[in-house]
Amino acid sequence: MKDSNYNQQKAEQFSRSLVDVFNKSAIALALSLGHRCGIFATMSSLPASTSQEIADAASLNERYVREWLGTMVTGRVVNYFPETKTYKLPEEHAAFLTDDGEYNFASGMQFVPILAQIEDKLVECVRNGGGVPYSEYPRFHEVMASESSQTVVAALEPFILPLVPGLIEKLEGGIDVLDVGCGSGQAMLKLATLFPNSSFAGYDFSEEGIDRANSEAKELALPNVRFEVRDAAAIGETDSYDLITSFDAIHDQANPAGMLASIHQALRPTGVYLVQDIAGSSYLEKNFEQPAAPWLYTISLTHCMTVSLAYGGEGLGAMWGEEKAVEMMRAAGFANVSLHKLDHDFMNTYYIATK
Ligand SMILES: C[S@@+](CC[C@H](N)C(=O)[O-])C[C@H]1O[C@@H](n2cnc3c(N)ncnc32)[C@H](O)[C@@H]1O
Repeated sequence: MKDSNYNQQKAEQFSRSLVDVFNKSAIALALSLGHRCGIFATMSSLPASTSQEIADAASLNERYVREWLGTMVTGRVVNYFPETKTYKLPEEHAAFLTDDGEYNFASGMQFVPILAQIEDKLVECVRNGGGVPYSEYPRFHEVMASESSQTVVAALEPFILPLVPGLIEKLEGGIDVLDVGCGSGQAMLKLATLFPNSSFAGYDFSEEGIDRANSEAKELALPNVRFEVRDAAAIGETDSYDLITSFDAIHDQANPAGMLASIHQALRPTGVYLVQDIAGSSYLEKNFEQPAAPWLYTISLTHCMTVSLAYGGEGLGAMWGEEKAVEMMRAAGFANVSLHKLDHDFMNTYYIATK
């Protein structure tokens, strides 16, 4: 028996929006698959082509490619010409689905299937508490490295370093830099290449991440960078660095307060702590303004909060928010903390903290 206030129109509108959720989730999975199989990269250089021509050019199975194209065409990602049974990826779409464009969303979509794979474990956690450790997420460091190359590495020189006045000149002259929670070390590898007079270090507790970073450093024959497996909350160094960075690495720590205190101790008195973390408010009601808020809360639910809880941690989560971030940096001893936004990057907030 429905309540007398039951609004049939509102109910129907909501059910239509749920169909849209089905469609968009399906497109997300298909975008990830298309990226991994190299179909977008192939299609971006092809004229309107048949499914057989696309499959041949990408060395793939035509039947699968044709079904995938069904999602892409009805999802308005790829154009279809029925008279010739040909398909074309518009240039404006290729700009956001390949590595040659502005941002490769198809690469970012890989997180959807990665995170979905831990659902059985998550059900257990939702019922009984606990968490899921990093090691349970297949391909996490690989995909994180490519995401980081797109977001952090590409923006370092033109946008992120200039946030700190005079920093580029100091890096040119030669300073000591540490990246905490460095993952596969993409940021430090880039800076070590750009600034040969400076010394760079990256710490992460993931052996997989550090192994990837070290083998890339070896390949590039970089003498000014080192990577070590270390717990961020126990760096154990004092007044050792002029610049310390963390990219997307505070909120999923088991002990974020310990990490910030450890970084404060390792920073020289005139040093700078430069942080990138998810843009959002600590107050749920303010996050309607974050265009990717449901995505970010879900990433947090299925990964960031959950990996922290796996180690008995605080479980801050990706949407810990700017208010909490500033409070925690101040509590760690940073006297000055300023917030910065980059025009092209609505996903992140940048913090500059000094002693
Ligand atoms: C979201 S990833 C970001 C990685 C990297 N900064 C990037 O932008 O690609 C967070 C990183 O924090 C690392 N991490 C988590 N807890 C840690 C701890 N206690 N000590 C050191 N690293 C930790 C993880 O292994 C992971 O590589």
